[in-house]
Amino acid sequence: MRRKLEKFVDPLPGIEVLKPYKKTKDGAHYEMTMKQFRKKLHRDLPATTLWGYNGQFPGPMIEALRDEPVHVTWLNQLPNKHLLPVDVSIHGLDQLPAVRTVVHLHGIETKPDSDGHPEAWYTNNFQETGPVFSRKTFTYPNHQRGSLFWYHDHAMGITRLNVYAGLAGMYVLRDKQEKLLNLPSGDYEIPLMITDRSFHADGSLFYPVQPDDAAENLPHPSILPAFTGDTILVNGKVWPYLEVEPRKYRFRILNASNTRSYRLQLDSNILFQQIGSDGGLLRNTVEMETIRFQPAERIDVIIDFSKAAGQSIVLKNDLGPNADPNDDTGSIMQFRVTKPLKDKDRSLLPAALSVIPSLKQNSISVIRYLKLVGDSDEFDRPLLLLNKKHWHDPVTENPRLGATEIWAFTNTTSFSHPIHIHLVQFQVLDHQPFDLEQYNIDGKIIFTGSPEAPAANNRGWKDTIEVPAANITRVIAKFAPYSGEFVWHCHILEHEDYDMMRPYIVVEDDEKQ
Ligand code: C2O
Ligand code: CU
Ligand code: CU
Repeated sequence: MRRKLEKFVDPLPGIEVLKPYKKTKDGAHYEMTMKQFRKKLHRDLPATTLWGYNGQFPGPMIEALRDEPVHVTWLNQLPNKHLLPVDVSIHGLDQLPAVRTVVHLHGIETKPDSDGHPEAWYTNNFQETGPVFSRKTFTYPNHQRGSLFWYHDHAMGITRLNVYAGLAGMYVLRDKQEKLLNLPSGDYEIPLMITDRSFHADGSLFYPVQPDDAAENLPHPSILPAFTGDTILVNGKVWPYLEVEPRKYRFRILNASNTRSYRLQLDSNILFQQIGSDGGLLRNTVEMETIRFQPAERIDVIIDFSKAAGQSIVLKNDLGPNADPNDDTGSIMQFRVTKPLKDKDRSLLPAALSVIPSLKQNSISVIRYLKLVGDSDEFDRPLLLLNKKHWHDPVTENPRLGATEIWAFTNTTSFSHPIHIHLVQFQVLDHQPFDLEQYNIDGKIIFTGSPEAPAANNRGWKDTIEVPAANITRVIAKFAPYSGEFVWHCHILEHEDYDMMRPYIVVEDDEKQ
């Protein structure tokens, strides 16, 4: 067993902003190469072998401007052998190359052939390609409001392993309207990518080959129904610290963990001022003592350190299993308010942030009831499904281009799932609890409470939302501006891989449904 790593000994790494290799009248052009590399993730841990975009973990940041398209050629120069245990018993992976990649830019509105379809994968230098592969360069139009998006691997059946190996990075879209608000910016706007990992004593990544309680007949390796690491990293460092000035900072926070959810809290009397969610600014700033946050969600917060000079403040995770004294996942990072104030803080924290028209005004074409269900496979392993359908079953969700629909996610399992829809930013209508025991007896949904409005910080644009157990969570979305095949799925990567992901098709008017 590896010895315990000391917390708050390494400074938080900044994230490099990638320069385009050319700019043309049709936008900015980038190239990004996936490579294997080694990096020290903690002072006392030997260097870890990782996979990363441009050999970095997190990958470099792309900064885009609204309405200025970005084109990225995502190159794969990874080795042919996987860094982590691949379960070839699922999705016919025994027939496929072990190392396959395809990049999805999470939160962006783009055409299907740039969306990173799980079967549009390719191997090193495009030697082999998946059935849906069609292009080497992806285009992101950026015709949407500014926000923090993130790119990550999405290859069929191995997304959990590719992302865990390090294939994730951030993408910030800026717009003029946001700029006018004069929020903290420059050195005072800091992206934070939170992940959890476990390590072997030699520094290599630990990811289990099989579940702990594996039955004898289980495939080897065998996928796990969930995985949480025992160590928290921010921007690729284990429990880092950040020295700050006594003033306001804006933090753009992403949960890029496979399975782990967090509930953020500061161990001081400072509260978070949340200004944005997945799809950009909220209508109004909301003061939050704690913020729940599932895989793939983003939160945009301002923390005001102006009255905290000299203090050390820990960003806590109160969902960390703190009962075990060896478990440190209750802490994420530390802020040290030790830097002198460089300049008067002229940034603002406006109460009113943006205008968000409610989609409820639109006429609703369809309401879809979509069940999150637990099943088991031939090896008696848990198998999680959407509407009892597997990935390869025919498409059942096919909104018309431009239609507004309500999707009612009905969670009949006993834990939360972060549900994500590609292409759209949606609005959360409500959450309504039902009697799960009754449902398990006769399949009837008996509500045990009235529909509740989403929490104040989830009333803006979202692309991923926590659907709690025994609950129907309804979201409303307009399926535009592109038609074609996209996917929706649970963003717990172990679930997405097996088998909580479904294709859906946005159909044009003249196509028949
Ligand atoms: Cu971030 Cu299809 O996912
Ligand atoms: Cu996505
Ligand atoms: Cu799930």
